[in-house]
Amino acid sequence: MLKSDLTTVLINGSPNRRGHTMEAVRAVLGLLPKATFHAYDLNVHSCDDCKLCRMRLACKHNDDMLTVFDALKKADTLIIATPVYFGAMTDALLRIINRFQQLFEAKFTHQKPFTTIQRLILISTTASHDPTMFDGVKLTTRLLEELFDVERTHTLTLGGTDTIQHITQTYKSQLERFKTHMSQ
Ligand SMILES: Cc1cc2nc3c(=O)[nH]c(=O)nc-3n(C[C@H](O)[C@H](O)[C@H](O)COP(=O)(O)O)c2cc1C
Repeated sequence: MLKSDLTTVLINGSPNRRGHTMEAVRAVLGLLPKATFHAYDLNVHSCDDCKLCRMRLACKHNDDMLTVFDALKKADTLIIATPVYFGAMTDALLRIINRFQQLFEAKFTHQKPFTTIQRLILISTTASHDPTMFDGVKLTTRLLEELFDVERTHTLTLGGTDTIQHITQTYKSQLERFKTHMSQ
Protein backbone atom coordinates (compact mmCIF):
# COMPACT_ATOMS: atom_id res chain seq x y z
CA MET A 1 0.00 0.00 0.00
CA LEU A 2 1.30 3.44 -0.88
CA LYS A 3 0.95 6.11 1.74
CA SER A 4 0.94 9.63 0.41
CA ASP A 5 1.12 11.48 3.70
CA LEU A 6 3.74 9.61 5.73
CA THR A 7 3.86 10.28 9.42
CA THR A 8 5.22 9.02 12.69
CA VAL A 9 2.90 7.77 15.39
CA LEU A 10 4.08 7.67 18.99
CA ILE A 11 2.19 5.68 21.61
CA ASN A 12 3.43 6.52 25.07
CA GLY A 13 2.66 3.81 27.60
CA SER A 14 4.04 5.65 30.61
CA PRO A 15 1.69 7.47 32.97
CA ASN A 16 4.61 9.83 33.73
CA ARG A 17 4.88 12.33 30.90
CA ARG A 18 8.07 13.69 32.44
CA GLY A 19 9.36 10.29 33.51
CA HIS A 20 12.38 8.31 32.37
CA THR A 21 10.75 6.76 29.31
CA MET A 22 9.52 10.04 27.82
CA GLU A 23 12.84 11.69 28.69
CA ALA A 24 14.54 9.04 26.54
CA VAL A 25 11.95 9.57 23.77
CA ARG A 26 12.54 13.33 23.76
CA ALA A 27 16.30 12.81 23.71
CA VAL A 28 16.14 10.72 20.53
CA LEU A 29 13.29 12.52 18.76
CA GLY A 30 13.60 16.15 19.80
CA LEU A 31 10.02 17.26 19.25
CA LEU A 32 7.21 14.78 19.79
CA PRO A 33 5.29 13.83 16.64
CA LYS A 34 1.92 15.45 16.00
CA ALA A 35 0.33 12.02 16.26
CA THR A 36 1.33 11.35 19.87
CA PHE A 37 -1.01 9.23 21.99
CA HIS A 38 -0.66 9.03 25.75
CA ALA A 39 -2.12 5.63 26.60
CA TYR A 40 -3.24 6.65 30.08
CA ASP A 41 -5.29 9.57 28.67
CA LEU A 42 -7.24 7.57 26.13
CA ASN A 43 -10.67 6.12 26.47
CA VAL A 44 -10.05 2.56 25.27
CA HIS A 45 -12.16 -0.43 26.23
CA SER A 46 -10.49 -3.77 26.88
CA CYS A 47 -10.76 -6.46 24.24
CA ASP A 48 -12.99 -9.09 25.84
CA ASP A 49 -12.65 -11.64 23.04
CA CYS A 50 -16.27 -11.28 21.92
CA LYS A 51 -15.16 -12.73 18.55
CA LEU A 52 -17.14 -10.25 16.45
CA CYS A 53 -13.96 -9.35 14.53
CA ARG A 54 -13.40 -13.04 13.81
CA MET A 55 -16.80 -13.24 12.12
CA ARG A 56 -16.55 -9.95 10.24
CA LEU A 57 -14.45 -6.80 9.93
CA ALA A 58 -15.92 -4.97 12.90
CA CYS A 59 -15.49 -4.11 16.56
CA LYS A 60 -18.30 -3.49 19.02
CA HIS A 61 -16.39 -0.68 20.76
CA ASN A 62 -16.63 2.91 19.62
CA ASP A 63 -13.86 4.75 21.45
CA ASP A 64 -10.47 6.45 21.02
CA MET A 65 -9.09 3.44 19.13
CA LEU A 66 -10.74 4.92 16.04
CA THR A 67 -8.32 7.87 16.21
CA VAL A 68 -5.38 5.55 16.82
CA PHE A 69 -6.33 3.42 13.81
CA ASP A 70 -6.76 6.53 11.63
CA ALA A 71 -3.26 7.67 12.55
CA LEU A 72 -1.76 4.20 11.94
CA LYS A 73 -3.27 4.13 8.45
CA LYS A 74 -1.15 7.18 7.56
CA ALA A 75 1.99 6.12 9.43
CA ASP A 76 5.24 4.74 8.13
CA THR A 77 6.85 4.76 11.58
CA LEU A 78 5.39 3.58 14.87
CA ILE A 79 7.16 4.36 18.13
CA ILE A 80 6.16 2.39 21.21
CA ALA A 81 7.47 3.87 24.46
CA THR A 82 6.91 2.00 27.70
CA PRO A 83 8.25 1.35 31.15
CA VAL A 84 8.28 -2.32 32.12
CA TYR A 85 5.52 -3.23 34.55
CA PHE A 86 5.88 -6.74 35.96
CA GLY A 87 7.84 -7.84 32.94
CA ALA A 88 5.45 -6.45 30.32
CA MET A 89 4.27 -3.25 28.65
CA THR A 90 2.05 -1.14 30.91
CA ASP A 91 -1.62 -2.05 31.23
CA ALA A 92 -2.94 1.06 29.44
CA LEU A 93 -0.62 0.36 26.50
CA LEU A 94 -1.50 -3.32 26.43
CA ARG A 95 -5.18 -2.40 26.39
CA ILE A 96 -4.51 -0.54 23.12
CA ILE A 97 -2.40 -3.36 21.71
CA ASN A 98 -4.98 -5.99 22.66
CA ARG A 99 -7.45 -4.07 20.54
CA PHE A 100 -5.11 -4.73 17.59
CA GLN A 101 -6.58 -8.24 17.76
CA GLN A 102 -9.18 -7.03 15.24
CA LEU A 103 -6.28 -6.19 12.89
CA PHE A 104 -4.88 -9.70 13.37
CA GLU A 105 -8.26 -11.15 12.45
CA ALA A 106 -8.49 -8.79 9.47
CA LYS A 107 -5.08 -9.90 8.22
CA PHE A 108 -5.06 -13.62 9.01
CA THR A 109 -8.75 -14.64 9.07
CA HIS A 110 -10.21 -12.29 6.48
CA GLN A 111 -7.04 -11.82 4.38
CA LYS A 112 -7.56 -8.06 4.49
CA PRO A 113 -4.44 -6.50 6.02
CA PHE A 114 -5.28 -3.19 7.69
CA THR A 115 -2.00 -1.41 6.97
CA THR A 116 1.77 -1.82 6.83
CA ILE A 117 4.32 0.10 8.84
CA GLN A 118 7.89 0.37 7.61
CA ARG A 119 9.66 1.14 10.83
CA LEU A 120 8.97 0.19 14.42
CA ILE A 121 10.85 1.79 17.30
CA LEU A 122 10.70 0.42 20.83
CA ILE A 123 11.92 2.57 23.71
CA SER A 124 11.62 0.96 27.11
CA THR A 125 12.92 1.50 30.64
CA THR A 126 13.13 -0.57 33.81
CA ALA A 127 14.15 -0.02 37.39
CA SER A 128 16.25 -3.16 37.30
CA HIS A 129 19.55 -3.74 35.48
CA ASP A 130 18.49 -7.26 34.50
CA PRO A 131 18.34 -7.34 30.66
CA THR A 132 15.83 -10.22 30.68
CA MET A 133 13.32 -7.79 32.21
CA PHE A 134 12.73 -6.57 28.62
CA ASP A 135 11.84 -10.04 27.26
CA GLY A 136 8.09 -9.40 27.52
CA VAL A 137 8.11 -6.04 25.72
CA LYS A 138 10.36 -7.48 23.01
CA LEU A 139 8.00 -10.40 22.42
CA THR A 140 5.02 -8.04 22.06
CA THR A 141 7.11 -5.96 19.65
CA ARG A 142 7.75 -9.08 17.54
CA LEU A 143 4.01 -9.64 17.27
CA LEU A 144 3.58 -6.05 16.05
CA GLU A 145 6.31 -6.64 13.44
CA GLU A 146 4.33 -9.58 12.13
CA LEU A 147 1.02 -7.72 12.21
CA PHE A 148 2.28 -4.66 10.30
CA ASP A 149 4.90 -6.34 8.06
CA VAL A 150 7.55 -4.13 9.61
CA GLU A 151 10.77 -3.82 7.61
CA ARG A 152 13.09 -2.44 10.32
CA THR A 153 12.88 -2.40 14.10
CA HIS A 154 15.06 -0.27 16.36
CA THR A 155 15.12 -1.18 20.03
CA LEU A 156 16.37 1.00 22.88
CA THR A 157 16.22 -0.54 26.35
CA LEU A 158 17.53 1.37 29.34
CA GLY A 159 17.74 -0.21 32.80
CA GLY A 160 18.53 0.92 36.31
CA THR A 161 16.18 3.91 36.41
CA ASP A 162 15.63 3.52 40.18
CA THR A 163 19.05 4.96 40.82
CA ILE A 164 19.12 7.45 37.94
CA GLN A 165 18.26 11.13 38.23
CA HIS A 166 18.33 11.95 34.53
CA ILE A 167 18.42 9.24 31.93
CA THR A 168 19.90 11.73 29.44
CA GLN A 169 22.98 12.14 31.64
CA THR A 170 23.54 8.49 32.51
CA TYR A 171 22.88 7.20 28.97
CA LYS A 172 24.12 10.21 26.97
CA SER A 173 26.33 8.28 24.54
CA GLN A 174 23.87 5.40 24.14
CA LEU A 175 21.07 7.86 23.29
CA GLU A 176 23.32 9.66 20.78
CA ARG A 177 24.27 6.35 19.14
CA PHE A 178 20.62 5.33 18.93
CA LYS A 179 19.71 8.66 17.34
CA THR A 180 22.36 8.18 14.66
CA HIS A 181 21.36 4.55 14.11
CA MET A 182 17.71 5.56 13.73
CA SER A 183 18.46 8.19 11.11
CA GLN A 184 20.41 5.78 8.87
C1 LIG B 1 3.37 -1.06 38.59
C2 LIG B 1 4.83 -1.07 38.32
C3 LIG B 1 5.47 -2.25 37.95
C4 LIG B 1 6.85 -2.28 37.68
N1 LIG B 1 7.43 -3.45 37.32
C5 LIG B 1 8.77 -3.48 37.08
C6 LIG B 1 9.41 -4.68 36.69
O1 LIG B 1 8.79 -5.73 36.52
N2 LIG B 1 10.75 -4.66 36.52
C7 LIG B 1 11.49 -3.52 36.67
O2 LIG B 1 12.71 -3.56 36.52
N3 LIG B 1 10.89 -2.34 37.00
C8 LIG B 1 9.56 -2.29 37.19
N4 LIG B 1 8.95 -1.10 37.51
C9 LIG B 1 9.74 0.15 37.47
C10 LIG B 1 9.60 0.91 36.15
O3 LIG B 1 9.73 0.07 35.02
C11 LIG B 1 10.68 2.01 36.04
O4 LIG B 1 10.66 2.81 37.18
C12 LIG B 1 10.52 2.85 34.79
O5 LIG B 1 11.75 3.42 34.43
C13 LIG B 1 9.48 3.95 34.97
O6 LIG B 1 9.38 4.70 33.79
P1 LIG B 1 8.65 6.12 33.73
O7 LIG B 1 9.44 7.05 34.61
O8 LIG B 1 8.70 6.51 32.29
O9 LIG B 1 7.26 5.93 34.20
C14 LIG B 1 7.60 -1.07 37.80
C15 LIG B 1 6.96 0.13 38.18
C16 LIG B 1 5.59 0.14 38.45
C17 LIG B 1 4.94 1.43 38.85
